[in-house]
Amino acid sequence: MSDDITIILNMDYIDILAFKDISNFDIRNIERYLIYQEENQEYDLATIVTYVNIGLDKKGYSEYSEYTKEEALNDLTILVNKYHKLPDDYEPDDLVALSYHNSYTYYLRSEAAEAYERLQSAALLDNVIIYPFSAYRSYDTQNTLYTRYKERDGEKKADTYSARPGFSEHQLGLAIDIRSNTLTDNLTNNDYEWMLDNSYKYGFIVRYPKGCQHITQFMEEPWHLRYLGIEVATKVHNSGLTYDEYYDLYMKETQD
Ligand code: DAL
Ligand code: ZN
Repeated sequence: MSDDITIILNMDYIDILAFKDISNFDIRNIERYLIYQEENQEYDLATIVTYVNIGLDKKGYSEYSEYTKEEALNDLTILVNKYHKLPDDYEPDDLVALSYHNSYTYYLRSEAAEAYERLQSAALLDNVIIYPFSAYRSYDTQNTLYTRYKERDGEKKADTYSARPGFSEHQLGLAIDIRSNTLTDNLTNNDYEWMLDNSYKYGFIVRYPKGCQHITQFMEEPWHLRYLGIEVATKVHNSGLTYDEYYDLYMKETQD
């Protein structure tokens, strides 16, 4: 509290006043808001606050916090992105095999696995045929994948579509990539629309939607679903926000 007052005393009061009605305004970020605003004059103040709180004024991976294993295990809604890392040796303790398998078996945490089976069945009833092509990935698997992509496409490009090890939702056992029957490596537009309109009813969101790369820091991935549980997934869906934004606005614990 006294630290917060010191910050205010050192600022131009008018600058601070402009932010006072923004619910997620954090006095500790005031200088970053002002710099980011200067550099991004097309954004309104609420957007400036949310984007800076997410960390978007800094390059992804340059500064990040790391969850404990307990936090990762006990919270199905934690945000994992280029600013929030999982411990290298984190693995969920309740992985369950999905009913669909080919030469691979796909695993998710039990609650997410059960929800996925329901989603897959509901989609089928609407003639949307989906099946998994990647679900839980360990830190080592993600490392192998990311390293391969980096060697093939260079770091800059790889960072637009593959998370670095420790920074992937797949390590949570709460993310799944799905394919549709009509294309080998993607969803058709209709299937994507179905997923956008319906996946939340089963607890999933499309985590990297079209047009949101400047926020999620990943290119669109219509096939990547994140399990959050029906209640949170529904709220995120209704908000029209990415999970990065929604988390900053509504999921962060109240700070001191
Ligand atoms: N393709 C997503 C971003 C991942 O690697 O987790
Ligand atoms: Zn994915």
